[in-house]
Amino acid sequence: QPKRLADYTPYPFRVDQVALTFRLAPCATQVLARLDLTPQSPGADLRLDGEGLRLLALRLDGHALPPADYTLTETGLTIAARALPAAAFVLESEVEIDPAANTALEGLYMSGGMFCTQCEAEGFRHITFYPDRPDVMAPFRVRIESDLPVLLSNGNPVAQGTGWAEWHDPWPKPAYLFALVAGDLVALRDRFTTASGRSVDLAIWVRRGDEARCGFAMEALKRSMRWDEEAYGREYDLDVFNIVAVDDFNMGAMENKGLNIFNSKLVLASPETATDADYERIESVIAHEYFHNWTGNRITCRDWFQLCLKEGLTVYRDQQFTSDIRSAAVKRIEDVLALRARQFREDQGPLAHPVRPESYIEINNFYTATVYEKGAEVVGMLRRLVGDDGYRRALDLYFDRHDGQAATIEDWLTVFEHATGRDLTQFKRWYSEAGTPRLRVTEDWDGSRYTLTFTQETPPTPGQPVKTPRVIPIAVGLLGQNGDEVVPTRLLEMTEASQSFAFEGLAARPVPSILRGFSAPVVLERETTQAERAFLFAHDTDPFNRWEAGRSLARSALMAMVGGAAPDPDLIAAYGRVLADAPADPAFGALCLRLPSEDEIATALHAAGTPPDPAEIHGARARLTHAIATAHEGALQAVFAAMADPGPFSPDAAPAGRRALRMACLGLLNRLDNGARAERLCDAATTMTERLAALACLIEMNRAAGALARFRDGFAHDRLVMDKWFMVQVLHAAPDLAAETAAHLAALPDFDWKNPNRFRALMGGLAANHAGFHHASGAGYRFYADWLIRLDPINPQTTARMSTAFETWPRYDAHRQALMRAELGRISAQPGLSRDTGEMVARLLAAG
Ligand code: ARG
Ligand code: ZN
Repeated sequence: QPKRLADYTPYPFRVDQVALTFRLAPCATQVLARLDLTPQSPGADLRLDGEGLRLLALRLDGHALPPADYTLTETGLTIAARALPAAAFVLESEVEIDPAANTALEGLYMSGGMFCTQCEAEGFRHITFYPDRPDVMAPFRVRIESDLPVLLSNGNPVAQGTGWAEWHDPWPKPAYLFALVAGDLVALRDRFTTASGRSVDLAIWVRRGDEARCGFAMEALKRSMRWDEEAYGREYDLDVFNIVAVDDFNMGAMENKGLNIFNSKLVLASPETATDADYERIESVIAHEYFHNWTGNRITCRDWFQLCLKEGLTVYRDQQFTSDIRSAAVKRIEDVLALRARQFREDQGPLAHPVRPESYIEINNFYTATVYEKGAEVVGMLRRLVGDDGYRRALDLYFDRHDGQAATIEDWLTVFEHATGRDLTQFKRWYSEAGTPRLRVTEDWDGSRYTLTFTQETPPTPGQPVKTPRVIPIAVGLLGQNGDEVVPTRLLEMTEASQSFAFEGLAARPVPSILRGFSAPVVLERETTQAERAFLFAHDTDPFNRWEAGRSLARSALMAMVGGAAPDPDLIAAYGRVLADAPADPAFGALCLRLPSEDEIATALHAAGTPPDPAEIHGARARLTHAIATAHEGALQAVFAAMADPGPFSPDAAPAGRRALRMACLGLLNRLDNGARAERLCDAATTMTERLAALACLIEMNRAAGALARFRDGFAHDRLVMDKWFMVQVLHAAPDLAAETAAHLAALPDFDWKNPNRFRALMGGLAANHAGFHHASGAGYRFYADWLIRLDPINPQTTARMSTAFETWPRYDAHRQALMRAELGRISAQPGLSRDTGEMVARLLAAG
């Protein structure tokens, strides 16, 4: 039943044109499809995908097809080769579907009275009979019939009248990029002139009342369009670009050609309702989906095994974009934090898979941190290896050679080989081998020559017991004992299992700064003294490694504290220097003040051979927070005051950085003033960033009841803000109260659990509350599993995705392991469990 990369065969027909007519009605929509087909290999049956479709009519070249000439199954329609003409022909089908009953939110569904679609990866087969695979590309013509005022599809508008509209998309595309929206929507409109002078009408479509919250997304879109012209020479290629915000959406957003569809939380923003993190995320996702127009749409994937071809590259591009328009150092640190928290975790657990997987049961389960974020890291490594010029030449060649095609990772790497002359055979292992390499380093100093010796080793992953050496670009700089840089950043290329690199002509033994900018997605293991890390934390000229040194100091201090040690005085002193420097670069300072998360400490303890105790970790982190605050109370108060924003509000990186630093100080001071400062801020706050941070502080001090009630009164009508209200309470609940709080909230009438955002807010909050979710009573696990079981029949995709909360089970003690495995077993035993969740649970349980 699994699909395999090795089994690829081309589709035996060409689709020359598609014409679709939609007669929209919530419970009975008719879809008429006319496909112009040309046989490519004689004697082949015509196989079309189709699921949950009621077939009303089927005609070949205008004549009804006799039932003896085709077979209809649960998954599609096959027309016998003998019934097909040898040359081009026209197949017409009429089907009926029920968008109102579509709770899985895949295909055509309803959200708050509006029709919308989600077709990636295999949703189009829920709309009509079609070869639903990305290598079948065709131009689409779409007619929509409906009384709703706004009727949208891909491409350019052709004609419209009362109750209908027609669209034409001239660019051949796979079915997963199809989109349709119909609703009572209003638009924020703007215009963009491309580098070559073409004028594009831009619109962001939202529900009435939300139009005042689209301005930031629109500015982000225009910045993205300009940036792709300047950085990659890529211009937009249609007369219109539409974005629609929908409230019910399984993922973040979707790059449908000319009609991007977004989860409303990634479009709508105002200072009162969105945090700075929301603003930054909106900007990057708007950019991401826009960048897909070239990396994904004009050049798409041959099959779903190549998903990282479009996703890894597009994530890399959106990261570069944010880095260019905000702070490069801060962006890199944020991305590495996310990579370690999500992708390393995946790579080190039962769900580990290569950036290009070799088999899957349900492709929706492979929209993962490995495909996306590690996929982006692999692109970044390629660029480091071939240099900026080589990268630009390779990308130019890629767009030139593969425009209009459905390509593979082989095509992508060949382009780099041809553009730069480099052999990438070994590099390709980054795509085929799962797991995070461990990089160990030792040093040698003989009085003038300094040598670094690296060894690499990748632990086994499911299905891949043996690993081979990777190409690892290691950026290294050397510092003198006074903190000056004696050797600027140099890129070492490691290709062997063990390899030495020498630096000659040094006057004194240097201090190395290794893996600068996190030049490869590996775990660097190096025996160093606390003193050396403190030195790097103070002096490293590479900002990423400066932050990294502080982070690892804090991590080891916390690990020791879990074992009963007192807070490390050198670390406490280092925070004093961070606070003194922070106002000069507030966003960076805020990151340096943020302590490692409980999950990160758990990972580190497990790697060191100790099963993590979540309650102990929680306690240690609280003690360190208290110790830092006690030692630096005056400085924290001063920075907190100095970072106050005189207004007017701006979401830009600089004021957002000041707010981040201010909130970091608030969080540290919270335990000393027993929540007093947070209490004042919570009601006076003019931004959601401050209000939510203050609320979290009050919840941690268990004195939030009044503030929560007032928050709710103020925002009851606002779905996105109420998602935050649900989440913050569970996320910051004390370990003993987390499951109980979650249960209380889940019983409220506005816990609309069929809405993925609301479900994720509450359940995601619980899963991210490390000590609460992993409470020894098992109450967190049980509650969570109960809800996965309840959601699965309604929405398999979101259920499967959220089952990853259990992926760290092998890390914990026998008691917790048994509890988690029991819950997974209970889920897997559900009658009628979806294929999505079934695959995930089986993989989760297979290890061990
Ligand atoms: N291509 C979309 C994006 O990254 C995500 C679509 C996810 N779809 C899914 N069925 N998992 O921008
Ligand atoms: Zn994407």
